[in-house]
Parts: sequence; C-alpha cells; structure tokens
Amino acid sequence: MDEPATTGPRTGSHDLPVSEELAGFMSGQWAASPLPGDIRLPVARLTPARRARLSARFPGERLIIPAGELKVRSNDCDHRFRPHSAYAWLTGLTGEEQAGHVLVLEPDGPHRHEAVLYVRPRSPRVGEEFYRDRRYGEFWVGRRPDLAEAERMAGIRCVHLDEYGRLPSGRVASQDSALATALSELRLVKDSWEVDQLQQAVDHTAAGFEDVVRALPRALAHPRGERWIEGVFGLRARAEGNGTGYETIAASGAHACVLHWIRNDGPLDARDLLLLDAGVETDTLYTADITRTLPLSGRFTSVQRQVYDLVLAAQEAGIAALKPGAAFRDFHQACMRVIAEGLAEWGVLKSAEGDLHRRYTLCSSGHMLGLDVHDCARARAEAYLDGVLEEGQVLTVEPGLYLQPDDETLPPELRGIGVRIEDDLVITADGARLMSGALPRTPDGIEEWMGRLTDG
Ligand code: GLY
Ligand code: MN
Ligand code: MN
Repeated sequence: MDEPATTGPRTGSHDLPVSEELAGFMSGQWAASPLPGDIRLPVARLTPARRARLSARFPGERLIIPAGELKVRSNDCDHRFRPHSAYAWLTGLTGEEQAGHVLVLEPDGPHRHEAVLYVRPRSPRVGEEFYRDRRYGEFWVGRRPDLAEAERMAGIRCVHLDEYGRLPSGRVASQDSALATALSELRLVKDSWEVDQLQQAVDHTAAGFEDVVRALPRALAHPRGERWIEGVFGLRARAEGNGTGYETIAASGAHACVLHWIRNDGPLDARDLLLLDAGVETDTLYTADITRTLPLSGRFTSVQRQVYDLVLAAQEAGIAALKPGAAFRDFHQACMRVIAEGLAEWGVLKSAEGDLHRRYTLCSSGHMLGLDVHDCARARAEAYLDGVLEEGQVLTVEPGLYLQPDDETLPPELRGIGVRIEDDLVITADGARLMSGALPRTPDGIEEWMGRLTDG
C-alpha cells in the first residue's frame, strides 16, 4: 500500500513537529462519540445469501476477497478509493474507508464458511494517528467505524486488520482466476435490490443529461466546451451519487468517431453533433451507462438525421431481440444486420453480407451492466458471450456508426459524423424493460426535449 517504512503517523514533509506538551494536550478530554445504534446497511439482509452461493462453489477452501489498496496520486496524496466490486457485492461496504480491508470466507466444516472482515478500526484517541496521520487519521480523512460498529453495519464478524498478516494462505480473488470467474458469474443476474440501485443510477444520469442540455449555451461559448459538459455532468454525479461510473465521454463533431474520447478538450460547434456517454454511480456503486447524440443547434440537419435514424433502427432491432433464452449475441447481430443493410442501401457497402460494416461500427453493441460498467468481465464465454440471457440481467444496447473524417469510402457529407445511442435494460420474464426511457431517443423527441429545456 505504498506504506512508509517507519511506523509513526504518515505525515507530510511540511508538517511541523509536535511538542511533548502538545502531544499530551491532544491525548485527553475527548467525549465519547459513538455512531447511532441503527447503522445496519439495508443490503446486509442480502449479502449472506450472496456469500453462501460463493461458499458452495469452493467447499473447504479459504477465500480471500480484498477491498483493494490506496494508490498514490502524487507524494502524500492518494487517488480517491473505490472498493473492488466483488468486495462491495459480498459485504455491502462501499466507502473510501474500506481501503486495505479484506473479507475472508473461512472454511467452517466441509460445506460452509464463516465470513470474517479484517478492518482498520477508528483511530484511537491515544497516540498521534487520529490527528497527525494524513492517510488514516480521523481528523484528516474522517471517522471510521470501530470494530463493533463495523460489525453492526455489515452483519459480519470484524477483526483488526493487523491480524490478517497471520492468516495462512488461501485463494485470493485478485490472483485466482477460478475465484474471479465465480465472482463475475454469480453477479450476472441481479436481485431486485440491485435492479432498484441501477434504476436510481439511470434516473440520476437522466437528470445529468438534462443539466447538460440546459448548460449548452455556456458550453458553446467556452473554448473547451467538451470539458464544460464533462464538468456539468460530473457535478450531478458527485451531488447525487459516488461520482461517474466511468470517465465521461463528451465528444463533439468528429471526436464522436473516437469510441472512448475522454480527453474532452475540444470546442463545440453548433453545426455539429455532441455524443455524450456518461453514467452516475450510486453510493452503493451501481452505475448507469447511457449515450445520447444531440444536435448542438437543437435541430438535426438532414444528413445527421439520416445517420441517426439508421442507428436508432438498429437499436430498436437490438432491443426487440432481448428476452430470456435468447443468445447474448442475438441483439448484437440484430443491430448489425440493420446497420449493414442501411450502409448497403446508401451505397457505402456493395452488400450487407459479410462483416465489412464493422469498419463503421468498430465495437460490439452492448454489455452487462452493474457494479462495473462492463460488468461480470471475468465470466467465461459460455456463461456470457456465448451464453443465453436470463431474467434479472441488466445490459446496455448501444449500436453506433462512426464515420471517420478521413474515410475515403464515404461521401464527403457523411464524414466526421459519429452517432451512438445507448440505453440500459433489464431482462424480464418475457422480454426487457427499458430503464432509461426517461431520455428521448427519436430525433423529433430529442429536438422537442432540447427545445423545452433551453427555452426561457
Ligand atoms: N461507456 C463505455 C461503454 O459504453 O461501454
Ligand atoms: Mn456501454
Ligand atoms: Mn457508454
């Protein structure tokens, strides 16, 4: 954890030394300040069943799931910490103070495990940590629960992190591919609490997109309008949740042809489209992943509308292919069929057959969504890419056309247009429910919505 070699408080080189008199003065006359009694996380009623499902896959084995470590940003400043998604899923604990903590599933007989959390408890009000330690001191980064409080929060027995070093080895999630795979596959189907968290993420994201539309006049006037947009969305994400679930893509004009344009350092031109791909992550760490492609003037030109309509038709075909039992690849193929036929109709491709359309689509048309934006990434192909959809899975459908500005296969008027439409859906008993329907998708709907948000 980039720990300094010395054992004293982690102070900065510009911190003044402490006199004995001050140290003595700091060490007393602090009133008790316990956390409120009722701090049990609502999700703690669900985590035992999650742990039991993992336990059943590894009878008799010690399973170690670290929250992860702090990472230095520069000198004595760390990056913001986000616990590993598997740790969050199994414990319900999501705060920055989870850095360094470890969940251990200790074999308890041949068929079950006992969960034990190794945690760094609240700084005691003796010694110097609480007022001098920049990384863990209560007066520097805030109060952590003590062991009893942590136990009450998570409903898991808690032990001091110092004890962790004495444990014999076991399977470690960050190193053991069978364990990592199990943790991904167990998260493929979401429970109703998770779907509710994802809906909250989507709803906050929709509010963030509205904020962006309202801010367009300011953004258009700024020399780095893309950054202005990133900032406006980021404000909503931090205000409502933990932040953005991934780096916001604010891509105007031909920048939209770069799939993950996160430099966001361009100006906005009212004649162009803006591709905004952004998601709010809740405090419980579930993220939305939504893209809208908007005309910066408020009105699509006819050629922009032509491209947009084709991507929308592809997305409609993809959404229609979602249902339990359908192959995961079906919706992607449905999207691509429409795109290939459209490109052939425009004369860009000689034929809709084959895979030459991929020059203009570049990436696949969707992925699982949950605690990670590209969720369940360690699942085996037979459970995910080559698997079938199941009720309770949440995924994106996000076809796009990326018509590069220097692509000589394209008529000049199409060059430099990038369109992606990305929505979040949950698989239901007989199809799929659109979670992000609060944001318009049709060109007319977008124009009407933008007009409403920017008028007066
Ligand atoms: N925002 C990344 C993606 O859409 O997959
Ligand atoms: Mn996506
Ligand atoms: Mn996206």
